[in-house]
Amino acid sequence: MAVRIAMIGGGYVGLVSAACFAEFGLHVNIVETNTNRLNTLKQGQIPIYEPGLDDLVQNHLKTKRLQFFDKIEEAINECEAIFIAVGTPPRNGDGHADLTYVHKAASQIAKHLKQYAVIVTKSTVPIGTSRRIAQILREENPDLDFSVASNPEFLREGEALKDCMKPDRVIIGIEKDKYNQDQRAQEVLSRLYQPLFQQKTPILFMDLESAELAKYASNCFLAMKLSYVNELADLCELTGGNIEDVTKAVGLDHRIGKHFLQPGPGFGGSCFPKDTLALIRIAQETGASTRMVEATAQANDARKANMSGRIINFCGGSVYNKTIAILGLTFKPNTDDMRQSASLPIIHRLIEGGALIKAFDPVANEKAKELLPKEVRYCKDIQSTTSEADALVILTEWNEFRSLSPANLKIWMKRPIVIDFRNMYDPKAMFNQGIQYYSIGRPQF
Ligand code: UDX
Repeated sequence: MAVRIAMIGGGYVGLVSAACFAEFGLHVNIVETNTNRLNTLKQGQIPIYEPGLDDLVQNHLKTKRLQFFDKIEEAINECEAIFIAVGTPPRNGDGHADLTYVHKAASQIAKHLKQYAVIVTKSTVPIGTSRRIAQILREENPDLDFSVASNPEFLREGEALKDCMKPDRVIIGIEKDKYNQDQRAQEVLSRLYQPLFQQKTPILFMDLESAELAKYASNCFLAMKLSYVNELADLCELTGGNIEDVTKAVGLDHRIGKHFLQPGPGFGGSCFPKDTLALIRIAQETGASTRMVEATAQANDARKANMSGRIINFCGGSVYNKTIAILGLTFKPNTDDMRQSASLPIIHRLIEGGALIKAFDPVANEKAKELLPKEVRYCKDIQSTTSEADALVILTEWNEFRSLSPANLKIWMKRPIVIDFRNMYDPKAMFNQGIQYYSIGRPQF
């Protein structure tokens, strides 16, 4: 009989993970309680922008390996594993992850589960959450036969299918005491991940707490790397170095690695800002010190806040009544996600300073309207955005911006000023066209 699992939550992580498990040959029941979202999904329409996901979901609606439900009780029958992939947004006020939806899902499972199953946390949750879930399940239904596991997800938006089907590693936390480990959970999860095991992906079993911490540890380490490289880039500007040469030199040391060394306007997205904050709170509560992560988060917040100042300075000290063209609004390319994007504080501040903003993002113009001041004018391409502008600011490195021609900019713009926060262009080519060009951590001509 086909292996069946349930995925509670049809959001980003739930949907991508479910589609990948379906591709691995499993039958996946997805529970989505938001009726609008559920109806959209049932028709094979994907409410998020993720390259390749729509085809995969539509394909497995046809193979019937993906099925959508609105109630947990209808979806968990005959499932060997039930993944909890509901949202854990930062709680208002204190920065802790809000576990309301996770706990609700656990209660519902406790009420309706009939057979043995492994209850697996996929959402990023504070250390101790999987044990808390086990406690909820035991308290609410003392007869329940279950295991708990923690299986954090490392998906990057825009690359999620690749990350899911060819991950660097799979981390699985299971209950362990000093005599024994949960063999049943290990057996079920090994079977679910068999296709990855065959392609020699390291599948690491560990205790629950280590798995939960490993997720924060990875994301915070990457965030730390970015804040560090951003500070080095600023240092290059002040000392005359070139960050590209510095990162190439540093990255070739295999202990450091060449990835994640691209300076920018400050990291954004749904994970790094949330996870750094959550780890800081977790540490504060336990009395441990996470000064490195605190500095990382502070440096990033300050960076995003002062990027508008760089634009204003480069425009001669004021943007009042100036038309500023913005290319890219999302926190990174290949996503329509605007969460914690550097574009938000930058554009708000420029408008406060009297700037007229024309903006273009290849996929997020509509989403941006909900988040940015109504004065922003949205454009449909590079030419209409930059035409008659007093300055151009590059905020996201979308591939379609790479072909931008300095010669055309010179013709279209009122003043040839380009401020490139993603280091997309050759400073010399800009200089040769008579464009005043600022990029991060690289010498100006
Ligand atoms: C991240 C992690 O990479 C993923 O493993 C985790 O599970 C979820 O969080 P994501 O938020 O989708 O994924 O984006 P990522 O590609 O990691 O970029 C995060 C931010 O860092 C973006 O704002 C991006 O612009 C910035 N970044 C990334 C840089 O500024 N420079 C880099 O070299 C890399």
